[in-house]
Amino acid sequence: MKPGKSLIKHYLQFKDLRAEEYAYLFGRAAVIKQRFKNYEKYTPLADRTLAMIFEKASTRTRVSFEAGMYQLGGSVVHLTTSGSQLGRDEPIEDSARVISRMVDLVMIRTYEQAKLEGFAAHSRVPVINGLTNEYHPCQILADLFTWLEHRGGTTRAGMPDIGSLRGRVVAWVGDGNNMANTWLQAAEIFGFTVHVSTPSGYEVDPAVAGVRDPGCFKVFKDPMDACRGADLVTTDVWTSMGWEAENEARKAAFADWCVDAEMMAVAQPDAVFMHCLPAHRGEEVAAEVIDGPQSVVWDEAENRMHVQKALMEFLLLGRIG
Ligand code: CP
Ligand code: NVA
Repeated sequence: MKPGKSLIKHYLQFKDLRAEEYAYLFGRAAVIKQRFKNYEKYTPLADRTLAMIFEKASTRTRVSFEAGMYQLGGSVVHLTTSGSQLGRDEPIEDSARVISRMVDLVMIRTYEQAKLEGFAAHSRVPVINGLTNEYHPCQILADLFTWLEHRGGTTRAGMPDIGSLRGRVVAWVGDGNNMANTWLQAAEIFGFTVHVSTPSGYEVDPAVAGVRDPGCFKVFKDPMDACRGADLVTTDVWTSMGWEAENEARKAAFADWCVDAEMMAVAQPDAVFMHCLPAHRGEEVAAEVIDGPQSVVWDEAENRMHVQKALMEFLLLGRIG
């Protein structure tokens, strides 16, 4: 079926879905994950094709989308800038028109959010943000699911309870980047607060983050103060993809923004540590933290696949049952 333009549901930013849709998605992710663990075959996307367009490097996003799509019975096409006409200046709108006539779903990792949005505007099929300079919604989808698994409540139906995130505190230590922006969007939707500590010159910009509620985040000069009493402590690389030329300057500016045992010690005793990965031990995080008992980073990485399977099912088939 050729979907009408207005009926297409894209996932371009975290705030593209409502709290109640996330509650559904987390429930589906739990079911889909359990089926995977039980080696139960579940192939609702048989004959469907996902195009994955990577203009930046990836390990987790590539493997989780590709393995996830195969497990759901579908197939994938993998495109890169240098291996396609995207690298030879074919307009993004033309690429969107062509690719979306041949596949059912598109995942894109690129630079400017505007480029992703330009593609989506000319796509006949749903488009998923696999990371842009501004946002990384699939990662926060996995992070919240992981947080709920480890520290969240369950509903009477035994599903992850998004209400259990309300009032909690997330400490963001490091760059005011795509991950930080997306955490802010999530805080606005679920009613928790992000304590943000960045070196000066690397602050989050609420306009870029796309949040309106000033209560969804608080700024701290000292990363220790951001971590004090936090339920979740998280960080990310000092230099994101696309900013490599600033690497040396960033190393100097971020030296005090390394999540170490001292920072974890002032957070809640049962606080979890998260990192979207790839990580640089000794830079943004100490080995004793990422490899320590409070770290849930491997579950966080695995959950990318389970939540994205739920997301792809939702975008293509709507609600099941
Ligand atoms: N976290 C994440 O998106 O990892 P990759 O860059 O390896 O896809
Ligand atoms: N902020 C990082 C995340 C990598 C998954 C980047 O954009 O490179």
